[in-house]
Amino acid sequence: MRSQELYERAKKIIPGGTQLLSKRPEMFLPDQWPAYYDKAKGCEIWDLDGKKYVDMSYMGIGACVLGYADDDVNRAVKEAADKGSMSTLNCPEEVELAELLCELHPWAGMVRYARTGGEAMSVAVRIARARSGKDLVLFCGYHGWHDWYLSANLADNMSLDGHLLPGLNPLGVPRGLKGTTLPFKYNDTEGFLQQVKQNQGKIGTIVLETIRNHEPRPEFIEAVKRTATDQRIVLVLDEITAGWRLNLGGAHLKYAFDPDIAVFGKAISNGFPMAAIIGKKDVMEVAQDSFISSTYWTDRIGPVAGIATIKKLSKNNVPEHLIRIGKKVRDGWKEAADRHGLKIEIAGIDPLVHFDFKHKEPMVLKTLFTQVMLEKGFLATTAFYASYAHKDDHIAAYLKAAEEAFAFIGRAIAEGAPEKLLKGPVCHSGFKRLT
Ligand SMILES: Cc1ncc(COP(=O)(O)O)c(C=O)c1O
Repeated sequence: MRSQELYERAKKIIPGGTQLLSKRPEMFLPDQWPAYYDKAKGCEIWDLDGKKYVDMSYMGIGACVLGYADDDVNRAVKEAADKGSMSTLNCPEEVELAELLCELHPWAGMVRYARTGGEAMSVAVRIARARSGKDLVLFCGYHGWHDWYLSANLADNMSLDGHLLPGLNPLGVPRGLKGTTLPFKYNDTEGFLQQVKQNQGKIGTIVLETIRNHEPRPEFIEAVKRTATDQRIVLVLDEITAGWRLNLGGAHLKYAFDPDIAVFGKAISNGFPMAAIIGKKDVMEVAQDSFISSTYWTDRIGPVAGIATIKKLSKNNVPEHLIRIGKKVRDGWKEAADRHGLKIEIAGIDPLVHFDFKHKEPMVLKTLFTQVMLEKGFLATTAFYASYAHKDDHIAAYLKAAEEAFAFIGRAIAEGAPEKLLKGPVCHSGFKRLT
């Protein structure tokens, strides 16, 4: 397989093999995952050997909500590239996108941009710390690779476990940052209030995703909002993964969970680098006093792709499609698991649904599922990120294959040695050294 050969070369010259943990083949099917693509269109991907797969996994790790190489977004981007994607002057689309974002989020009055999610979160936390004048950040969930976030693991190297990616190593993060970020658990109102009480008067920023695996409890939202308002804490909602999937804009609009700052990335621009930090005017104004500036934050492709993506999401009511398709997959998993005696636990909002095997050696079963599905022509894991390119016939074909895979796994469990059916090593579950 050409891609596995290339990946072996990559690991010799690129530390960690890839630039994103979630794209490591080891996270899916070590030694067998196709690893590299030649072409991607709609929800199909062609690997370096010309083999075609239907992507029923992460769709560009959540970026390609309309599908790969979307014609409308690509047309806008090609035009922008031809007109010059960079110059000494600014591109007008920055202003157009800012106005569009504020129209969709009437609580927000100002917008800044970055190009990646983690970087945009760093900007948000910088603005929040500048505004509050306090270092301490309370957070919940995953927010990227930057020092402010990883510093949570300096105090207790398990702090970030349970926040999406286990085992994140803060090596190289200044030890002086120890104690500047403290975790709380999503929907755990009591735990959150306790953390606030223990750090009374010191907290300047609260950071969390609006939603990830479970619906927010109304009392949790209330407690977070009230604490932020009463104690003049800047509330930052991370919409990098949740945004644009349940409704047009941030999921917080659906839950009346108004923040001081909301951050978008990934799906906002359907695969072209773009991120936006939107916020209340009086909070965002502080960005004038702290030095926050970068050359490629001014490129034209990002805002142009963002505007084209948002227009298409709106015109085609894409969030409704994502919810419907995701629900189908969720129900299909449940019914197939029941039919074949598999215990699985399904979580996640409908457009970003996932399951865990509730048997001994769940990672063996997860690897086996990916192995069987790959042989049937699907890039699949225990998660499904819905896109507008996934149509009903893709879902029907996928669920038929998944049913067969579940039947195979059910038999393997009954026979007592599912690991013997693996053709390679078990997949990784979090961050670790490759060599
Ligand atoms: C909620 C959330 N915040 C931040 C990030 C980091 O974004 P990026 O990988 O673009 O830096 C991610 C990425 O998975 C995310 O899901």
